[in-house]
Amino acid sequence: MKSENSKNISISLGSINLTCETKSDLFSPKGLDSGSRLLIEDVLKVFPKYKNVLDWGCGWGAISLCLAKNKPESKIIAIDSDIAAVSMTNKNLSANNLANVMVVPSHGYEGVSMEKKFDLIVSNPPTHRGREVINNMIKDSMNYLSENGNLVLVVEARLKPWIARSMDEYFGNHKILSRNAKHVVVFSHKN
Ligand SMILES: C[S@@+](CC[C@H](N)C(=O)[O-])C[C@H]1O[C@@H](n2cnc3c(N)ncnc32)[C@H](O)[C@@H]1O
Repeated sequence: MKSENSKNISISLGSINLTCETKSDLFSPKGLDSGSRLLIEDVLKVFPKYKNVLDWGCGWGAISLCLAKNKPESKIIAIDSDIAAVSMTNKNLSANNLANVMVVPSHGYEGVSMEKKFDLIVSNPPTHRGREVINNMIKDSMNYLSENGNLVLVVEARLKPWIARSMDEYFGNHKILSRNAKHVVVFSHKN
């Protein structure tokens, strides 16, 4: 059932076409955020062989849905601390007949078993929540990546210096994948 403050939107990215429902109290309710779009395009270009992916802070599911649709054989775990985001992602997965994403309500990595390992962790992180949240996410991602796994983040361009410092601190490396006037996509590799 659709609530009063929800809206149907379409996503078209390369050969990926999806119809999703969003809600005014979730991130980017009018459609796919331009930063998230940049991140998805980079992942498809640079890490096209992704298999086990974690989407940290899935919102209404934009990143997870695109990656799942592009590669039905991949297995994706989408986490969010906001129960409304979790439920909207589940709704959007059903509406688009996608069965390769599991959505987990989780504050940080709390709800994700330490046994799980991912070759790719992606996020458009909630930078407005403060540096501690983001630093912890970057630090904890190390424990959830398999050897040679990659953490890929999109952030506002003005925040790149401190995000890059944090990635260097915990991973010992970072590289820029792409940038535009507003956003930077940056990744760290686990050696
Ligand atoms: C910038 S939004 C990105 C949403 C979505 N990935 C997208 O690209 O449209 C960040 C998301 O992180 C979630 N979030 C904030 N703090 C969190 C935390 N501590 N643990 C997990 N998710 C969190 C928010 O609820 C929000 O949905």
